[in-house]
Amino acid sequence: MILVTGSTGNVGRNIVRELLAAGEQVRALTRNPAESGLPPEVEVFEGDFTKPDTLPAALDGVQRAFVFPVLGALEGFLQHAVRNGLDRLVLLSSTAVTFPDPGWVGGAHLRNETEVLASGIDATFVRPTVFMANDLAWAGQIAQGGIVRGPYPKAAMAPVDERDIGAVAAAALLSDEPLDHVSFTGPESLDQVERVRIVSEVLGVKAEFEEISRAQAHAHLVHHMPDLAAEFLLDQLKDAAAGGGAEILSPEPVIGRPPHTYASWVEHRIADFRR
Ligand SMILES: NC(=O)c1ccc[n+]([C@@H]2O[C@H](COP(=O)([O-])OP(=O)(O)OC[C@H]3O[C@@H](n4cnc5c(N)ncnc54)[C@H](OP(=O)(O)O)[C@@H]3O)[C@@H](O)[C@H]2O)c1
Repeated sequence: MILVTGSTGNVGRNIVRELLAAGEQVRALTRNPAESGLPPEVEVFEGDFTKPDTLPAALDGVQRAFVFPVLGALEGFLQHAVRNGLDRLVLLSSTAVTFPDPGWVGGAHLRNETEVLASGIDATFVRPTVFMANDLAWAGQIAQGGIVRGPYPKAAMAPVDERDIGAVAAAALLSDEPLDHVSFTGPESLDQVERVRIVSEVLGVKAEFEEISRAQAHAHLVHHMPDLAAEFLLDQLKDAAAGGGAEILSPEPVIGRPPHTYASWVEHRIADFRR
C-alpha cells in the first residue's frame, strides 16, 4: 500500500494516476474527503499535517509514502511514519535547495529535507524547478482582455509540467532500490513574453505580456504570500532576466520519456485557463 499526501493537488493527482496505472494499491490523504474527486479505487483518508493525531490511521499498513511539503508541519507525520515502520518516503522539494543562496523558499525546503533525513527512513527528494501550473495565475487576466502584467518580461525559466513531477515521484516510489535525489526542469527555456504567446496560440485568444515595475508586482504578491517569499520570487525573476537562458535538466533518465513541452501543458490545462 502506498500513501499519497497532497493527493488532491497538481502533483499529487498525477502521482495517484501513475501508481494506479502501475497496478498499485493507493491510499490518499486529504483534509476533505467529500471534495477529493479521486478515482473510486483509491482509499481516501481524512488527515491534516497540522493535526498529527489525525495521521496514524492513514499510515497503518502503508509501506511507502509520498510526502507533500506542508512547510513547518512535517514533524508529526514523520514521528508516526517511524512508529509505523514506513520503508520509504518520497518528499516533494525544490531545485532552490541547490542554489548558492537558497532564499526563503529553498531554506524552508532544506529544513524539510533535514527533518526527513533525521527520521532515518530511506528517502528520495524530488526537486523540480518552477511549475508550469504557476502560469494558471494568468487565466483571469487572459479572460479579461488578454493583458498579462508582470515584472521582468525577459526572465527565462524552464518550467516543469506537473505530469512529469508526478512521474518522477511515482518512479521513486516504485523503484526496487531508493533513487538518488532528482533535480529537474522542463524541456525548454522560455521567457514570460514567449510563454504568454504560446498560451495565446493554444487557446486561440489574444494575449500579450505587459511589463510592470518590481514594486507594483511586490504590492500584489504580498496579498498571496509572505513578504520573504515574494522577494524570493522577484529575485528569481530578476536573476533569470539577467541570465542567458535557463539550464535544462531533463527527468528523462528517471521517467523513460521526454518531459512535456509548455504548449502540451497549456493544451492539458486548457479548461483551467477558460474557467
Ligand atoms: N510552484 C512552484 O513553482 C514549486 C516549485 C518547487 C516546489 N514546489 C512545492 O510544491 C508545492 C505545490 O504543489 P502542488 O501544486 O501539487 O500543490 P497544490 O495543488 O496547491 O495542492 C496542495 C495539496 O496539499 C494538501 N495540503 C495542504 N495543506 C495540508 C495540510 N495541512 N495537511 C494535509 N494536506 C494538506 C492539499 O490537500 P487538501 O486540500 O485536499 O487537504 C492539496 O492536495 C508547493 O507548496 C511547494 O512547496 C512548488
